[in-house]
Order: sequence, then structure tokens, then C-alpha cells
Amino acid sequence: MTSDELKRRAAEAAIAEVRDGMRLGVGTGSTVNFFIDALAAADRDLEAVVSSSEATTERLEAAGIRVVTLAESGALDLYVDGADEATRHLHLIKGGGGALTREKVLAGASRRFVCIVDESKLKTLLGEFPLPVEVIPMARAYVARELSARGGRPEWRERFVTDNGNHIIDVHHLQIDNPVAMERELNQIPGIVTVGLFARRGADVLLVAGADGITRIE
Ligand code: 5RP
Repeated sequence: MTSDELKRRAAEAAIAEVRDGMRLGVGTGSTVNFFIDALAAADRDLEAVVSSSEATTERLEAAGIRVVTLAESGALDLYVDGADEATRHLHLIKGGGGALTREKVLAGASRRFVCIVDESKLKTLLGEFPLPVEVIPMARAYVARELSARGGRPEWRERFVTDNGNHIIDVHHLQIDNPVAMERELNQIPGIVTVGLFARRGADVLLVAGADGITRIE
């Protein structure tokens, strides 16, 4: 089965979590794009839908789903998003698509976070996928040095600007034994806007699509 087919299955499984009247947050990426297609087809009567990126907003609106701001919606009932890596402890690496800051805001604003992935993303340890870090542009070189000092190999994601006007550093070779502690430590470096580790507020439910069906981890 192709990776796209698995992503589609994970996305469709998440539709069962969406109920009429909910205030829903929608993540970003190719897995979420399948979720948006399935959401449009399911035709739920949602109270509000909030988007984590310009790309997702465009896709939702093209599917006929009205998007409101987080200020308009208030707290969310449910957030659905993909991930670049996930563990059975429900810790995630996110930000491959560069939308990590708004994604982390929506995850934080949601009562429940359902993460949808194909089985290739389920890992014992996080860090094979380079950790995305969003930085304000003037701090890029300083933050890169701080990340090197912690054993990572920072790589500037060239010609990429986030929806917030910032830059992304992808950090290779980090040893992430304790994701909660690392997220907390990296959050202290001035100039970092958001670290793509979602550990302090990880997922509540992980829906993993594999050749044998959907595995639910919570
Ligand atoms: C975007 C993200 C995505 O959830 C992550 O990159 C996974 O993407 P995809 O579903 O395309 O594999 O964090 O910032």
C-alpha cells in the first residue's frame, strides 16, 4: 500500500472523532489534506473551524468550509493534525511543512488533539527526522550556534518564510532521549519562536494507519 493511501486511511479514521457542534482546529500537510477532503464529504455541522496555516485555509475554503480566527472561535474542542514523527508516548516532531507555530497554538487551545500518521512515522525515539525550529530572522545565526552547542547540526531551510514571516532551522543529529526536557530547554533560547517538539502538549490520541488497519494509541 502506498504512503498516500495510508495517510488517507488515517485521515478518514479521524472523521469519527468529529461531531456536530464542535469547534475544530485543522493542521497542515498532505495527511491533513486528505482529512479536509473527508471532512467536506462528511458534511458535519460544525460550530467553528480554525486553520493552522494559509495553505490549509485555502484548502478548507476551496472545499466550501468557512474558516474563522481563533479569537472568534474561542477554545477548541478538537484539533486534528499530522506529524513527521510520533512515539507511543504521544510525543511528536512536527513542522516539516513549516507551520509548527500556529499548529502548536491550536494544539494548546484544544481540549483534545488527535494526530494522524502512517506507520512509517511511528518511532521508538524521536530525532531521525531533523527537528524544525522557527526563529526570528535576525536571531538565525545566534540560534544556530546555540543548537550546535547542544550537539545538533543546524541547517537553514533556505528560501522558506513561514506564515509568520520567520525562518526555519532544521536540526539534524539531536539526541532526543527526553523530549519534554529538550522542548523546555530549547524554548529558553532567545530568538526561537517555536520548537517542533510537541511533548509538553503532545497528542491525546494517535491514529496510525498500517497495512493491517488503524492502530489507536492513547
Ligand atoms: C506541518 C506538519 C505536518 O503535520 C507534518 O510535516 C506531516 O506532514 P505530512 O502529513 O505531509 O507528512 O507538522 O508543519
